[in-house]
Amino acid sequence: MNVVLFGPPGAGKGTQAKELAKHYQIPHISTGDILRANVRDGTELGREAKGYMDRGELVPDEVLIGIIKNRLTEDDCKAGYLLDGYPRTTPQADALSGILYEINMPLEAVLNIDVADEELVIRLCGRFMCNCGESYHIKFNPPEKEGVCDSCGAELYQRDDDKEDVIRQRLESYKEKTQPLIDYYNEKNILVNIDGAGEIDRVFSDICEVLDQYK
Ligand code: AP5
Ligand code: ZN
Repeated sequence: MNVVLFGPPGAGKGTQAKELAKHYQIPHISTGDILRANVRDGTELGREAKGYMDRGELVPDEVLIGIIKNRLTEDDCKAGYLLDGYPRTTPQADALSGILYEINMPLEAVLNIDVADEELVIRLCGRFMCNCGESYHIKFNPPEKEGVCDSCGAELYQRDDDKEDVIRQRLESYKEKTQPLIDYYNEKNILVNIDGAGEIDRVFSDICEVLDQYK
């Protein structure tokens, strides 16, 4: 199954992708997670990306295209892939087509998770993360013990870019540079719209209903 999870910041791409990757046994490839791991490890890539991420801007295309090419040519992607947060610009989408052609793993579906702006801000302002990869929401998906990860027991933290002014900038970047890809994939007849406004479990079953046909 070769799929892109598409949508604005806070739409629930990461939340759904983690469960979908377990359910369908395919790798979850999040460019945001890859960049944050590089920032944490202090790599050259992380140092280059950090300023853009802290301002809520997109990291330059050539950096992302390199990351995704390396990742998609790893062995585990022979089983399929679930892309989350890539592509985000037309040049990234064009580069992706080229890479997928080379590895003979064409995209089957782009799931566009749709959520209203004000709901996105509420979701991102209340999000708490764990370094193990889990994420929570103070109200919509709280951990059993406040501030502590259910899975690994570590202390939860807020992302540097989950501050309201940066969230607004991320939404702007999305509208200007990323949203045009909805038409791009619609023209290729692989776009599927998903209503992302309901509860996490309901959105998950709606997505599975679509993805089951690609098993
Ligand atoms: P990235 O990490 O990709 O961030 P994003 O796209 O802004 O997406 P988020 O992770 O914020 O949201 P999400 O949709 O995954 O929502 P989540 O499931 O966590 O990118 C970060 C930065 O890296 C970018 O700004 C950019 O600088 C750079 N970058 C990354 N990729 C790039 C690229 N390709 N090109 C250039 N730059 C790139 O959910 C959010 C919250 O809502 C959580 O608290 C969750 O519990 C809650 N929630 C989820 N679903 C529901 C629901 N149905 N109901 C209620 N609450 C819900
Ligand atoms: Zn954890």
